[in-house]
Amino acid sequence: MRTPLVFILPVVVLTLAGVWGCRELSPDQDATAPVPDERWRDAPVGAQMGDPLPGLTEEELARFHAGAALFRRIFTPEEGLGPLFNENSCNACHTDPVDGGTGDQFLIRATTWDSVEGCDLLLDEGGDNIRQRSTPLLAAHGIHGDLIPERANAVGQFNVPFLFGLGLVEAIPEEAIVSREDPYDRRGDGITGRASRDAQGRVARFGRKGQMVSIFDFNEEAIRLEMGLTTPLHPDEVGQNRGPLPEGVDPAPNPEVDMETLALLTDFVRFLAPLPRDVPSDPLQRARVDEGERVFHEIGCTGCHVPYMETGPSPVAALDRQRIYLYSDLLLHDLGEALADACGPQAAPSELRTEMLMGLGRRHRFLHDSRAFSVSQAIEMHGGEAAPARDRFLALPLDRQDALLRFLDTL
Ligand code: HEC
Ligand code: HEC
Repeated sequence: MRTPLVFILPVVVLTLAGVWGCRELSPDQDATAPVPDERWRDAPVGAQMGDPLPGLTEEELARFHAGAALFRRIFTPEEGLGPLFNENSCNACHTDPVDGGTGDQFLIRATTWDSVEGCDLLLDEGGDNIRQRSTPLLAAHGIHGDLIPERANAVGQFNVPFLFGLGLVEAIPEEAIVSREDPYDRRGDGITGRASRDAQGRVARFGRKGQMVSIFDFNEEAIRLEMGLTTPLHPDEVGQNRGPLPEGVDPAPNPEVDMETLALLTDFVRFLAPLPRDVPSDPLQRARVDEGERVFHEIGCTGCHVPYMETGPSPVAALDRQRIYLYSDLLLHDLGEALADACGPQAAPSELRTEMLMGLGRRHRFLHDSRAFSVSQAIEMHGGEAAPARDRFLALPLDRQDALLRFLDTL
C-alpha cells in the first residue's frame, strides 16, 4: 500500500526544520544562506588596517587625509574643549590598532525606563550621555563632570567600537534592512528583529541602541558630547546636567568648530575601508576555518549576524553598489535580562543592535560593556532571542566549537 504524500511531506518538513533548529528559511534570507565568505581569495591578504577605501578619487582621498588629521587633533580648553567632556580627541578613544579603532574608555549612559512610558533619555537633565570630566577652569568651581540623575534606573557602559567600513554600512539602502524585520516572528525562528527609527521614520542604524541615522549625526554628537565642542547646529554650551555654566569657564567663542570640520570628519569615517580578513595560508588550517563558517550558518548565528549586504547607488564610486561583509542585520534584538542596562530612543534595556562582527579577530573585549573576555564567553552570554543559537553552540562537540571560533577569529 502506498503512503499518501500528505503524510510524508510534513514528516520531511519537520525533520528538516529539526535539523535547522526549527528555522524556516524564506527566500528573502539570501545572505543567510550558506554562501562562503570568499573575500580573502581575491583580496590581497595584508592590506593595511586603517587604509582608505580602494577606488577613491584624488579629491576624496585628500578629504580622507584632512579628516584623519582632524580625527587625531588634540583640542585644548582655549580652543573649545569642554568645559564638560570625556576626551580631548577622537582618536584618544578610537585608536587601537590604528585611527578609527577601539580604546579602553567607556561611555556611560544614564536613562529611565518604564515599561509603559518607554525610554526617557533625561534630556532635561543633560541627556543620556554622561560627560565624565571637566576642564581646570570648571573644576575650580567644584564641578568635575555630569552627575548620574537620581531618577535614572537604567544605566550602562558602552565600549568603543571600530569605525572601519562604516561608510559602506551607511550606503546600504533602508529596504535591505527593513526587509529583514520580523516583529511578529512570522519566520517562526524565535528571532524578532526590529529596525530602530528616528522621529521622521528613517532607519537609525548606528550606535548599539540604534540611536543614530547617519555618520554625520553621530560625529556631530561625538564632537559635542565626547569633546565638549559646540557646532553650528548646536552652538550653545551646556552646563552640568543642563544647568547654567559659571562665568568665564568657556573662553572660546561659539560655535567652536565649523561645518567643514564636521564634513571632513564625516568623510574620514565614510572612507575608512573595512578591515581585511585574516585567513591562514596553511591549507589544513584554512579547512578548519571553512568548517567553522559552515557551523556559523548551521547553528543559526546568521539569523542576526547576516554575513553581507550590498550598498545602493552612490555618487562616490567606492561606495557604489559594493558588498560589505558586516555580519549584522542592523536590527534591534532582545538579548535577555542579563545584558539589559540603558535604554535607547527606540530600544528597551535588553534590546541591542546586532553587533557587527567585522574586525572581531582584532578586538580583545566583547559585548557592549566589555563583560566578555573571549569570543566564546560572548556567545555563552547571548540570551533572549539568541538563546536557541547559543544552546546549539553549547551542544556542539568541542572540535566544532573550536572550528567556529577559528572562523570568527579571521573576520
Ligand atoms: C570618550 C571616548 C570617545 C570619543 C572621544 C569619541 N568616541 Fe566615537 N564612540 C565612542 C563609543 C563608546 C561609541 C559607541 C556608542 C554606542 O555604541 O552607542 C562610539 C561610537 C562612534 C560611532 C558609531 C559607531 C557605530 O558602529 O555605530 C562613530 C561614527 C563615532 N563614534 C565617531 C567618533 C568621532 C568622529 C569622534 C570625534 C569627534 C569620536 N567618535 C569620539 C567613544 C568615543
Ligand atoms: C537574536 C540575534 C542574535 C543571534 C541569533 C546571535 N547573536 Fe551574536 N550578538 C547579537 C547582539 C544583539 C549582540 C550585541 C550584544 C552586546 O553588545 O551586548 C551580539 C554580539 C555578539 C558577539 C560580540 C561581538 C563584539 O565585538 O562584542 C559575538 C562574538 C557574537 N555575537 C557571536 C554570535 C555567534 C557565534 C552566534 C551563533 C551562536 C550569535 N552571535 C548569535 C545578536 C545575536
